[in-house]
Amino acid sequence: MIKKVGIVGFGQMGSGIGQVAASNDYEVKAIEVNDDAFQTGMKYINKSLSKMIEKGKADEAFKEKVLGNISGSTDLNELADCDIICEAVVENMDIKKEVYKKLDSICKPETIFASNTSSLSIGDMASVTNRRSQFIGLHFFNPVPVMKLCEVVKTLDTSEQTFDTSFSFAESLGKACVTAKDSPGFIVNVLLVPYLLDAIRNLECGLATKEDIDNGMMLGCGHPMGPLTLTDFIGLDTILYIADIMFEEFKNSHYSAPPLLRRMVNAGYMGRKAGRGFYDYSKK
Ligand code: CAA
Repeated sequence: MIKKVGIVGFGQMGSGIGQVAASNDYEVKAIEVNDDAFQTGMKYINKSLSKMIEKGKADEAFKEKVLGNISGSTDLNELADCDIICEAVVENMDIKKEVYKKLDSICKPETIFASNTSSLSIGDMASVTNRRSQFIGLHFFNPVPVMKLCEVVKTLDTSEQTFDTSFSFAESLGKACVTAKDSPGFIVNVLLVPYLLDAIRNLECGLATKEDIDNGMMLGCGHPMGPLTLTDFIGLDTILYIADIMFEEFKNSHYSAPPLLRRMVNAGYMGRKAGRGFYDYSKK
């Protein structure tokens, strides 16, 4: 039975997962490196809940309930009695392994560890713990309160019980679940990322303007956002990071990052969060 949910890393994804858990009556304890970072996550949640109220999908009482179900801390020890940990720290294997080593000695034996990684090996993370069978991937999509999907990722060691409990947990957050093996990009990113990389390649070789590439896919294929707007939305650094991991694994040029993407990331054009990417968000 899952009642208490620990979130490690309360950025865009972690706070989104915390929000949907708190909305579905779970007690949420969120860990960040400092209070400012925790408050930034709470701001995302506040904004999202206000949007829902504006659209008539929630009321003030719901907002208060959700906010009341979430508390923050900088101390991992406060996660000792959590039933599941959803980890959404930066996509860096060394940092994730450090976090999991600590959590393994802190959390009660039954706690399930679930990583929100989009491309790193879950099995590799599990290898630094003594609970490989209680390790799983729960990969949510941005914005978490809106996107319906959760990829449930099994490693070679994930037990049936861990899988069933985690799958039911994700469903209890209102998500539709698909099951994938522990392979870089899982189901969605292995298709989505090469498409985004190709859009950047097309821009780079002068096929069309950024606006026309985006409008082409929105108006021609019914996508809610064009590929360059979506890359800005996800973060150019994140897409580059995933592309590099997939290229390293598959050694297929399909996954190789176009030079323009790397140049933009190196120059700080990270997308919407940085105020600039393919488009300028500094005045929005
Ligand atoms: N919280 C709550 N509700 C939100 C919200 C948020 N953060 N953001 C948007 N919404 C709601 C709006 O209130 C609105 O509700 P109604 O339908 O009732 O009007 C609805 O979602 C649409 O939002 P907007 O009208 O503000 O704007 P939009 O129509 O441009 O939609 C969007 C915004 C939902 C982000 C849409 O553009 C979209 O679906 N884009 C694609 C997003 C996507 O592909 N995400 C996956 C990225 S890949 C990933 O995350 C995985 C990875 O590992 C990289």
